[in-house]
Amino acid sequence: MKNSPWWRDAVVYEIYVRSFADASGDGIGDLQGIRSRLPYLAGLGVDAIWLTPFQPSPMADGGYDVADYRGVDPLFGTLADFDALVADAHAHGLRLIVDVVPNHSSSAHPWFQAALAAPPGSPERDRYIFRDGEEPPNNWTSAFSGPAWTRLPDGQWYLHLFAPEQPDFNWRNPAVHEEFLDVLRFWLDRGVDGFRIDVAMGLYKDADLADVPPSGEGFQSRSPIWSQPEVHEVYREWRKVLDSYPGDRAAVGEVWTDTAEDLALYVRPDELHQSFNFAWLEAPWSATAFRKIIEDTLVAVTAPTWVLSNHDVVRHITRYGEGSLEPEAGLDRGRAALLAMLALPGSAYLYQGEELGLPEVQDLPPESRQDPIFERSGGELLGRDGCRVPIPWSSDAQSYGFSSGDARPWLPQPAAWADLSVESQAGDPASTLSFYRRVLALRRSLRASLPDAIAWLDSPADTLLFTRGELICAINCGDEAVPLPPHGGILISSGEPDQTSLAPDTAVWLRQA
Ligand code: GLC
Repeated sequence: MKNSPWWRDAVVYEIYVRSFADASGDGIGDLQGIRSRLPYLAGLGVDAIWLTPFQPSPMADGGYDVADYRGVDPLFGTLADFDALVADAHAHGLRLIVDVVPNHSSSAHPWFQAALAAPPGSPERDRYIFRDGEEPPNNWTSAFSGPAWTRLPDGQWYLHLFAPEQPDFNWRNPAVHEEFLDVLRFWLDRGVDGFRIDVAMGLYKDADLADVPPSGEGFQSRSPIWSQPEVHEVYREWRKVLDSYPGDRAAVGEVWTDTAEDLALYVRPDELHQSFNFAWLEAPWSATAFRKIIEDTLVAVTAPTWVLSNHDVVRHITRYGEGSLEPEAGLDRGRAALLAMLALPGSAYLYQGEELGLPEVQDLPPESRQDPIFERSGGELLGRDGCRVPIPWSSDAQSYGFSSGDARPWLPQPAAWADLSVESQAGDPASTLSFYRRVLALRRSLRASLPDAIAWLDSPADTLLFTRGELICAINCGDEAVPLPPHGGILISSGEPDQTSLAPDTAVWLRQA
């Protein structure tokens, strides 16, 4: 374990740049804001940070609509700010990975503007996916609701799996390959430790753009839209570039698949280093579900990853609390799930604010919502703004210390967040923040001695019990307290420590007897 590359067992903290910390005082997070909070992140005990897109963008999708792949949007700072952030992160012992968005550009990207200005059939149009026809070329719908095709005045349609402002590239065109190899080198030359690849299973579409079969078929794997075999050639090209740089540069793919076997295809030895494993994040609070996910993952994937929340999904403590009569159940379960996830082999991805126990903000005023999903679905889907509300740093400052100025944060923060701020929690040993710090420190101290394999022990219904070297991890997803196995002491508990029994919605790390 000791000599394995950093990413294999790293804890990576996702920073949604708009919502982390605002140094410029305009109500929107920025790179200098992140820089000012590096001591906090180093103190939290994570190994790396992942920054969501900060490149120039019209922000039709919070920056996932990139207009210039080699710059920094003025909202977030400058390239010099980025260079300073990389240097400071490294000085704090933190690796830094950046998002790369290769499935689509912004419609403001010079290539798409050139395509609009050029006639049908031109080389400019061939860098995107244009088709003729009176009707849309097929039945695909956008992941953000509504059709996936938009028609131009000249009669051609272009494909956008997301918003119309996010036209999909044509990866069957070699120029697109060359462009992205160069983009990777641009950021690698600036010292980034790796990339998170947006919509990594989407780059190639079925060559004939066949219709999606009627529902009931697997959505995420093996559809004409996703996971075409040709996509793997892209990651083989990218892997060669990453490997040509010193210092274990790594790539993690945003890959949504139906099975762990399909996921494993992306992390073959000459492709991506890692892929997000969204199965747990999609699972209910259930020991049976968790066990199956853990088993399937560890069988199929040699470099496993775990994640409970990110900027695209309802925060996990809110998900886990749904349907429960106990107001605190979601938070208790979230803390327990963290212990289970961090006991497993592989690396873990945390999402900003989960260490504060932030819930999803479900009652944002409609006029403040900015996720294109909200508008495109006519308000039927709330979208993802509720997990993107800016972080509360202090209790009584304007915007809870998120912004250095008087500007309102780009999304309003709930009044109850004063008590959830970093300042409120930092000195309280019972807080969720203190719990995260303790478990991350403990994991770091144990990790050199923990093997890559786990062993299951028999346990009562609705519980999980496994060992990993010296560690025993128990998690109770049921309604009743259960007895703990013989052990040599509690290392950490997600709830009230108890030597002999494990309360519902609680997990514990024990030393082997
Ligand atoms: C990914 C991102 C999401 C974005 C989408 C389109 O799923 O995580 O935030 O909206 O891609 O780029």
